[in-house]
Amino acid sequence: MTTVRLNSTDNAVSFDTDALVVGVHTGPDGPRPAPGAESLDEALGGRLAATLGAMGVKGKVGEIAKLPTFGALTAPLLAVVGLGDAPEGGYDPETLRRAAGTATRALAGTSRVALALPAADAERAGAVALGGLLGAYTFTTYRTTGEQTAPVAELTVLSAADGAQAAIERATTLAESVTLVRDLVNTPPSDLWPARFAEIAEQTGSKAGLSVEVLDEDALKEQGFGGIVAVGQGSARPPRLVRLAYNHPEATKTLAFVGKGITFDSGGLSLKPSAAMDWMKSDMGGAGAVFGSLVAIAKLGLKVNAVGYLCLAENMPSGTAQRPSDVFTSYAGKTVEVLDTDAEGRLVLIDGIARAGQDNPDVIVDIATLTGAQIVALGWRTAGVMANDDELREEVVLAAGEQGEAAWGMPLPEELRKGLDSPVADIANLHPERFGGMLTAAIFLREFVPEGVRWAHIDMAGPAFNKGEPHGYTPKGGTGAITRTLVGLAERYAG
Ligand code: BES
Ligand code: MN
Ligand code: ZN
Repeated sequence: MTTVRLNSTDNAVSFDTDALVVGVHTGPDGPRPAPGAESLDEALGGRLAATLGAMGVKGKVGEIAKLPTFGALTAPLLAVVGLGDAPEGGYDPETLRRAAGTATRALAGTSRVALALPAADAERAGAVALGGLLGAYTFTTYRTTGEQTAPVAELTVLSAADGAQAAIERATTLAESVTLVRDLVNTPPSDLWPARFAEIAEQTGSKAGLSVEVLDEDALKEQGFGGIVAVGQGSARPPRLVRLAYNHPEATKTLAFVGKGITFDSGGLSLKPSAAMDWMKSDMGGAGAVFGSLVAIAKLGLKVNAVGYLCLAENMPSGTAQRPSDVFTSYAGKTVEVLDTDAEGRLVLIDGIARAGQDNPDVIVDIATLTGAQIVALGWRTAGVMANDDELREEVVLAAGEQGEAAWGMPLPEELRKGLDSPVADIANLHPERFGGMLTAAIFLREFVPEGVRWAHIDMAGPAFNKGEPHGYTPKGGTGAITRTLVGLAERYAG
């Protein structure tokens, strides 16, 4: 990963680096240099705004321009990134994250990059560092030919703010976790199957100070994890349940996170069409976020107890696969009729949720790439948040917003429950009505939440994987979505 450091110089003009990044705002008479860019503008004879204007640069969000400095600055290259309209108060940290990410993405191939963005306080310095690190992400493990552009090797955040060093260290920890999750999501399913994911969790988790327990297929059968077993039984690569635990001696609260970890979702016998299948390696993004967040929580040493469950299975069609109309007994004891084997995420999650109840958590949050209906309802970038408790739902939405992750509260309309009645079992996994599919999936999960436990569900089918073009600090492919939200939530519960 790219490294980041802090420098408190007030002299960016003579700062020794390969590329210097500054911000620029939109203005009525063209682009205007943002705080941090003034001294550079001076060194360039006050011509920055006019030059940018001539280049057609407006200062809009997402804009980036590279200028040669012809010796006017020590850095041979000046990169100017749009920040939009100048804010009335302080800068929105997310604006800074995205701007820094846009810059480091555009500067791939440059070895040393210094960010002279408006980082007036510790929080903003941390935002610049995090955005810069996340924007520099590349996934090249499987490339042997073609042009290889190395990511930025070394980032420097220029800021004199008090506490900036600690904020940059937190940003580094978060970026390491998000990078870990992105790598897992991007890894082809040929190289990431349940047992392999469990192995990685064991190695990386223990190294971060987590205690890790793995249940294999025999243990899962023996202990009654009917949902995880049913989904995994069609694959030659059997399922796993991983439990990651972090304890702080002074903790007063316990959080339980449960992640959907389908390492590949073919749909099973209810097979998906190819166009809907070729990105289903991302169907373990929820388990990825749980894993990544637990690693970060441990490294940050938060004063909270956190336990994470990775519900790992590969959903495949075969002679041993579950059939539509099969019935299994879940870990909670309720029977489930499987009408559609492609509605498999909810089947592994209910076992994880019921198991998490045994840790006596204050809250359970499950995270899943659960429904295409989430994308229909909220689009690619906004996760849906549902809960059995209004306050908790709002808290999760708030925690996401604080980290710059888009999430929106959604209802659980009572009238949708009866559609899940099964003629043979306690409940069916499919609702006859397609509309409101994100909500019916959540209502199904709610039936398995232990009595009296506050529970929230995050559906991030769209946000987990970017099928479009890169933007801000978000690359194509795995995004690592919701990892930071879970860390933020843990920070809220930490003493
Ligand atoms: N993994 C999919 C949901 C999904 C869709 C994630 C698109 C990411 C992008 C899930 O297992 C699934 O297949 N859901 C079905 C449920 C339906 C059969 C009730 C869906 O959404 O179509
Ligand atoms: Mn599915
Ligand atoms: Zn799925």
